[in-house]
Amino acid sequence: MSLLGNGKRMVTVTINKNQYLAEEGEIFLLTANRLGIDIPHLCYEKALEPYGACRLCMVDVVTCGKTDMTPACTIRVQNGLEILTDTPQIIKHRNLLFELYLAEAPKSEVIKEMAAKYGVTKTRFLKKIVHDDPLQGKCILCGLCVRVCEEIMGASAISFINRGPYTVINTPFYEHNPDCEGCAACAKVCPTNAIVFEDIGTNRVMQSWSDTTVPLMICPECGKPFAPQRLMEKVLTKPESGLIEEIKDLCPECRRKYFTLREIRKIPTNGGQA
Ligand code: SF4
Ligand code: FES
Repeated sequence: MSLLGNGKRMVTVTINKNQYLAEEGEIFLLTANRLGIDIPHLCYEKALEPYGACRLCMVDVVTCGKTDMTPACTIRVQNGLEILTDTPQIIKHRNLLFELYLAEAPKSEVIKEMAAKYGVTKTRFLKKIVHDDPLQGKCILCGLCVRVCEEIMGASAISFINRGPYTVINTPFYEHNPDCEGCAACAKVCPTNAIVFEDIGTNRVMQSWSDTTVPLMICPECGKPFAPQRLMEKVLTKPESGLIEEIKDLCPECRRKYFTLREIRKIPTNGGQA
């Protein structure tokens, strides 16, 4: 064991029978990826507490000669940790999951490409067909969008609805939801690019969420719509936003111009020469 400058300890872990140094407490999935050990994964998102939803990142944890299948995103590195990432049972589990995801999200190129990389190109399961699917046949029901909306944005505008094979993500009763702030954080975290939204004129239309329509803020300087109004109001009322009064309503581009001009005005016109 050794101590890093940031006070964290480097410990020894064994992965596929090889020993490595790793940072104590780090999420094992990240350690493995950093060491170039490939573990497929879909639902890990650093802004959220890992919760092992997609089950794709399963590895075998070896303890006293026995193995225990565990999602790599829920394991924290500790000294002496021993992991196997590609045992026959892991490969079998992974391939089965890819087949399930190919059926659950038959239009997802992300899933198709990932599955093909591991040699899975077909599914024995019945493909899910949802007519006029607002998630374009790409949703694997990982729940990341629901969690980011609730846990990070505090909006809870979307949720799992229906049950069993009919489960989907959407707004309550598939209706326009005034709780949606149009932040599009859901689309950013979605691992399969299932969520669709578009800025149309002065509105953001969350097409996947029952066409929930959110007005955009208009920059008073250049007149361009740039960010959802309610989201901006929320951000601007936070003292930590740090934005000064003259620029707080401006779009990012006009803010940049403001600062550039301010810097230019500070330079003496004679180039600073006496
Ligand atoms: S829309 Fe995307 S983030 Fe939301 S559950 Fe489906 S796959 Fe996951
Ligand atoms: S990334 Fe670990 S379970 Fe999904």
